[in-house]
Amino acid sequence: MRITICTLFPEMFDNFLQTSIIKKAQLQNHVVIDTVNIRDFTDDKHNRVDDYPFGGGAGLVMKVQPIADMLQQVVTPSSKVVYLTPVAPVMNQQKAKQLSDVDHLVLLCGHYEGVDERVLEYVDEVLSIGDYILTGGEVAAMVVTDAVVRLIKGVISENSIEVESFEESLLEYPQYTRPADYKGLKVPDILLSGHHQNIASWQQKEAIRKTYLHRKDLLKKATLNKQQKQMLEEVIDEESKNH
Ligand code: 6GU
Repeated sequence: MRITICTLFPEMFDNFLQTSIIKKAQLQNHVVIDTVNIRDFTDDKHNRVDDYPFGGGAGLVMKVQPIADMLQQVVTPSSKVVYLTPVAPVMNQQKAKQLSDVDHLVLLCGHYEGVDERVLEYVDEVLSIGDYILTGGEVAAMVVTDAVVRLIKGVISENSIEVESFEESLLEYPQYTRPADYKGLKVPDILLSGHHQNIASWQQKEAIRKTYLHRKDLLKKATLNKQQKQMLEEVIDEESKNH
């Protein structure tokens, strides 16, 4: 897979691309990630990439010309161009999976107050990372890149991904590592019992508890089996006694 990140601030990606799993994925040739500086494509004699908005209003708008000319150089028939903007559907794990199947993913980062609307003519898809406003698409491009790269086969263990898809619509259960007792804060006994079936069932129930406590919206979408429904009943009962 290839990912091309198009931005006015390529330096923002230096540390991100040279750290941890994203670095390793590139070193092991699972992915090639490049940045392209949109400013290199402006035909403005003062190198400007933005201008005042028609109709007035605050801030500056990114010009269409540098972006259109840049994309013409970058895009190939196997490319998918995704423009990162809060005015878009919100990214989720299913979208990350879709994007990890793309041969060449082109991520376009906007900045300033926005981008000339005609840029949409040059993109295949728009994507937001959540309901809040960032100063630009760069951090969003890192979020998308991270979520996509870890799904490329071979980048992380198959196991980690399987567990996620199994628990698709639930939050993850709590995890612990040594020591078993940190200043009186104890790891749940069952995890030290070595009884795999009981442990698996505890983990399932605690995943349901986390989802119930933090994301009831996900629980409504989840299809729970009979045992999981029973666990949810128990969780609701236990939590009503705790609070
Ligand atoms: Cl993709 N861009 C910006 N600027 N803000 C955002 C966003 C993207 N997603 C959520 N907020």
